[in-house]
Amino acid sequence: MELNIALLPGDGIGPEVVGQAVKVVDAVAEKFGHKINWTSALTGAAAIDAVGDPYPDATHEVCMAADAILFGAIGHPRYDNDPKAPVRPEQGLLKMRKKLGLFANVRPTFTFPSLIDNSPLKRERIEGTDLIILRELTGGIYFGERGRKDNGDTAFDTCTYTREEVQRLAKLGFEMAMNRRKKLCCVDKANVLESSRLWRETVQDMEKDFPEVAVSYEFVDAVAMRLVQWPSSYDVIITENLFGDILTDEASVISGSMGLMPSASIGLHTSLFEPIHGSYPQAAGKDIANPLATVLSAAMLFEDAFGLKEEAGIIRSVVNKSLAEGVVTEDLAGTNKAYKTSEVGDWLAAQIGLPETAETSAQ
Ligand code: IPM
Ligand code: MN
Repeated sequence: MELNIALLPGDGIGPEVVGQAVKVVDAVAEKFGHKINWTSALTGAAAIDAVGDPYPDATHEVCMAADAILFGAIGHPRYDNDPKAPVRPEQGLLKMRKKLGLFANVRPTFTFPSLIDNSPLKRERIEGTDLIILRELTGGIYFGERGRKDNGDTAFDTCTYTREEVQRLAKLGFEMAMNRRKKLCCVDKANVLESSRLWRETVQDMEKDFPEVAVSYEFVDAVAMRLVQWPSSYDVIITENLFGDILTDEASVISGSMGLMPSASIGLHTSLFEPIHGSYPQAAGKDIANPLATVLSAAMLFEDAFGLKEEAGIIRSVVNKSLAEGVVTEDLAGTNKAYKTSEVGDWLAAQIGLPETAETSAQ
């Protein structure tokens, strides 16, 4: 198969972690006889520096022409303490989401047996956790009307949703639940917010189309608690943009390391795959960042964008092997030897090249 992939390394550790995913994808392509056409493009602070725009038109064209996008991270400390900066790297991310119609952000949370004791939560609470948060990504308060009044002394941001936006996201959630444990939780704040009441009403109307799915409705504040008390009780969670932003960060630490969790953003034109961690500027250029979340995002890319499950399976199996054998970066190494980012990537690619790897993962 010929796969056209846009490569957006972005800022901070983005280029380093994406570089390792490229090694792994190329090794998988070699093994299965696929041809990958990589096209790189600029985003974030790197794009502001080069052309003054965090998501330039040229990058958008590359993305629109691609079958899938592999993305690193966006963000630079130069902008963090400057609320008046006229253009910010994060605007590139939001513009990209909107222009590509990336309406659904899929963030799984699962545990790795060898890392359970790295979690801030007790083993008995997290064992068996396997949930997906499906976050709406192109609506809500992120994209609603905003501004200042009273000479700048009053500021407002508004959360707006249409029924269609909710239906589109919820449909994906119901379908995912059907392929999993058939449980769907709609997270909102319907006791206070009108937009949440629209969410609840819309999802309730859709229940009849998916009679096998058990649907629950929970308030976001309660879910914030229950996620750390009893994460294994959740299967698929659907929620609006800002609640999803917060809950996915909360959920990401359950596994024991943010450096491990991949994500996919499903779009109208194409889909984007990225680690859920940020640009981690303190580690940029040091070859110490954990590349596994990006490598696992590449596994999602094979499976979700191209339906290539075996390829995805091999990537997941070599990642598990690297964790089991301690071929990991310093964040996971503890008192053992820490490998460099690039060494982990080389090791994973070499493992994929081994003739027996296909058999191991096919089991
Ligand atoms: C994320 C990030 C972004 C968001 C920021 C960088 C705009 O936190 O992808 O979750 O809030 O969506
Ligand atoms: Mn976030």
